[in-house]
Amino acid sequence: MDVDRLVAEAREVMERAYAPYSEFHVGAALLASDGSVHAACNVENASYGLTVCAERAAVAKAVAAGVREYSVVAIVTDGDKPVAPCGACRQVLAEFGRGLRVVSEAGGIRREWTLDELLPEPFGGLPGWTGGIQD
Ligand code: THU
Repeated sequence: MDVDRLVAEAREVMERAYAPYSEFHVGAALLASDGSVHAACNVENASYGLTVCAERAAVAKAVAAGVREYSVVAIVTDGDKPVAPCGACRQVLAEFGRGLRVVSEAGGIRREWTLDELLPEPFGGLPGWTGGIQD
């Protein structure tokens, strides 16, 4: 799976975002080491703080499928320029590997970072933290 195809998957799932409050539609597609793709959109709630970002929804979907090793996350929004994942999503992604490639596209512009660049010092203070290195 190449990155263009992964971005296309993120765009497709973005169309299903439930975002009646912000009207900001986000899709995220995680490419796993086994080649599988796990894609999800943001899901808002009338109690705003209960909103789930697309990236965290994609991680939950992948983990529920038994997949924990990822190489790339593609993010697509309907905004006019690419966004980096929010701080909470950076921390959640860091749980599963800090070398993750983060590719974001909007308004015909594509940007790319590593998760390490976006979150150089994740919280990892508890026993059990591996920073994404699986047993
Ligand atoms: N959102 C995401 O899905 N991912 C992010 O990284 C940041 C923001 C969503 C949450 C909310 O539904 C909307 O975008 C506006 O904040």
